[in-house]
Amino acid sequence: MALIEIRDLTKTYRLANVVTPVLDHVGFSVEEGEFLSIIGPSGSGKTTLLNLLGGLDREYTGSLKIADKEMKALSDRRISTLRNRTIGFIFQSFHLLEHLTCLENVMLPYFFAGRPTKEAQARGRLLLEKVGVADKAEVRPIYISGGQKQRVAIARALIMQPKLLLCDEPTGNLDRETGAQIVDLFRELNKDLGVTVLVVTHDERLSRVAPRILHLADRKIEDTRTEPGKRVTDLSSSSSAPPAD
Ligand SMILES: Nc1ncnc2c1ncn2[C@@H]1O[C@H](COP(=O)(O)OP(=O)(O)O)[C@@H](O)[C@H]1O
Ligand SMILES: [Mg+2]
Repeated sequence: MALIEIRDLTKTYRLANVVTPVLDHVGFSVEEGEFLSIIGPSGSGKTTLLNLLGGLDREYTGSLKIADKEMKALSDRRISTLRNRTIGFIFQSFHLLEHLTCLENVMLPYFFAGRPTKEAQARGRLLLEKVGVADKAEVRPIYISGGQKQRVAIARALIMQPKLLLCDEPTGNLDRETGAQIVDLFRELNKDLGVTVLVVTHDERLSRVAPRILHLADRKIEDTRTEPGKRVTDLSSSSSAPPAD
């Protein structure tokens, strides 16, 4: 069974009398344990697609199944459970709560799930160690760097042991070197924990480390496979174009 199964997915925004078609009969599927990136220029619909995949937007036609569940058919309650248990979301701008410590930020999804605090603390600390910021557990996010914030956000996305990690331009607010480290971390988590990772970016260099790349353009998706295992830093000399925004 595929973890993501999409057929004839069509998405059009309608605001007053403005009609914006974004996805037009798109189809692809993703198996559990895959690591893939979706690349497309600014405005091509990457965030739209991620919001659909994450159940934040359920207004579409066609079929979009996560873990064999049709997203638009689920009740609000079941969608919340699916989003808490199965899907981890990572944003370009980290979305950490500044009045909480890094550890408390990581523990949050556990609270929402009604799990015990002791367990949340133990798992949170393990994950902070795994992503390389164990020493920031008691620190509030305002005192750490962008790369460290993204690591904390990744730990938070992982605490419920999601099957699927959705990442929307996770390196967009980071310098190139730090961005490369974050993408390497995704690859490591994919390998070590078996979590399916889907990274959306407009940065072709970062997307190229994934063994599978979906190109989003003109409302369609094209699927390609690359030689897996290249390091992001190996690619820096082969890049021609600068990022789109
Ligand atoms: N909530 C919305 N309502 C109406 N139009 C939207 C909305 N969100 C995005 N769009 C439009 O849909 C298109 C795709 O946007 P988006 O998915 O954000 O692209 P990307 O993430 O690739 O930059 C753009 O033309 C954008 O203006
Ligand atoms: Mg976007």
